[in-house]
Parts: sequence; structure tokens; C-alpha cells
Amino acid sequence: MHPRTRLSAGARLAASLISVMSLCTISLPAAANDAPVQLTPAQSGYLESCGGCHGIQGTASKKDVPQLRSEVGRFLCTAAGREYIVRLPNVAFADMSDRLLADVMNFVVFDLGGASAPRGAAAYSVAEVAGLRRRPLKNAPLARMRANILADARLRCGR
Ligand code: HEC
Repeated sequence: MHPRTRLSAGARLAASLISVMSLCTISLPAAANDAPVQLTPAQSGYLESCGGCHGIQGTASKKDVPQLRSEVGRFLCTAAGREYIVRLPNVAFADMSDRLLADVMNFVVFDLGGASAPRGAAAYSVAEVAGLRRRPLKNAPLARMRANILADARLRCGR
């Protein structure tokens, strides 16, 4: 996609984010009076590259796009789950540096995922994300992998 198209999609998402801020409790810094909302690089990376499918708050409106909010932290209950969510094609091939992707994944798992992340789970390091995204899950049976991972996660984390 042309970079300008992507940017303006990001800008549109940021605008809609601002418009919902007054309605919802979200994990972004509060805007002081009329000051523009300052997003962290991870938040704007998420909005631009992920939010179009997963929703600005991690709650997708599209069928077949899984909910991240208060759910996605479960994947950190097992090593296989931790790897799976970075190796997903939409994640591994995201147009961002390893460092930004690591920041985005930590935002997704710990901020959007909230209490669903196991207590004490380690944040993704840049090196870990760099290694995983170089092994993307191409032509893999994602639904089956996901079901197995979440069954193991339930055993390990109790939910
Ligand atoms: C084009 C739409 C789209 C985009 C863009 C996208 N995703 Fe997804 N995502 C999906 C779909 C669909 C799935 C279900 C698995 C699959 O088919 O890849 C998914 C699965 C996931 C999962 C696993 C959740 C679960 O419960 O199975 C995570 C985590 C995730 N995406 C994070 C991201 C992040 C982070 C980004 C941005 C870097 C991103 N996604 C970009 C559509 C998208």
C-alpha cells in the first residue's frame, strides 16, 4: 500500500480514537483540556497497522477477527502461545521495525490484554520479536494451532 494511504488511515483512526475518548475508559493518557492527544509510538503503531482490523480498543467489529481486549494475554501462558502471536502473518509482516513491533506487542498483550496476561509474564524483547517474525506462520492451520494453544493455556493458567 502507498505510505500516504497508510498514514491517512492512521490519522483517521486517531481521529476516531479522540472522538470515542469521552465515551469510553481506555488505556491512553488523558488529554489535558484541548491539547492534542499524545500517543506513544506503540499506540500509534497499533492504530495504524492493527487497529483497522482489531479495533482501536482491541475489540473488533468484524466477524472472524479475534478480540484482543482482556483476552490476548492468555497466549503468554505458554511458550508456544507467546511465539504464535508474533509469528501470525499480520503481525510478523507488519511494516514496522523489530523495536516498534516489540513495543506494539507489549502494548497489545499487557495494555489491551490487561489482566488476561499471567502475572509476572516477561515483556517481549526486541531480539525475541526479531527472531520470531523471521519464522512467519505461512500456510499454517491457524485455527487448530490456536485451539491447542488455548487449551494448554487454560491448563497452565486456569482460564
Ligand atoms: C487484515 C486484518 C488484520 C490486521 C491488519 C491485523 N490482524 Fe491480527 N488477526 C487478524 C485475524 C483474522 C486473526 C485470526 C488469525 C488469522 O487468521 O491470522 C488475527 C489474530 C491476531 C492475534 C491472535 C488473537 C487470537 O485470539 O487468536 C493477535 C495477538 C493479533 N492478531 C495481533 C495483531 C497485531 C499486533 C497486528 C498489527 C501489527 C495485527 N494483528 C494486524 C486480522 C488482522
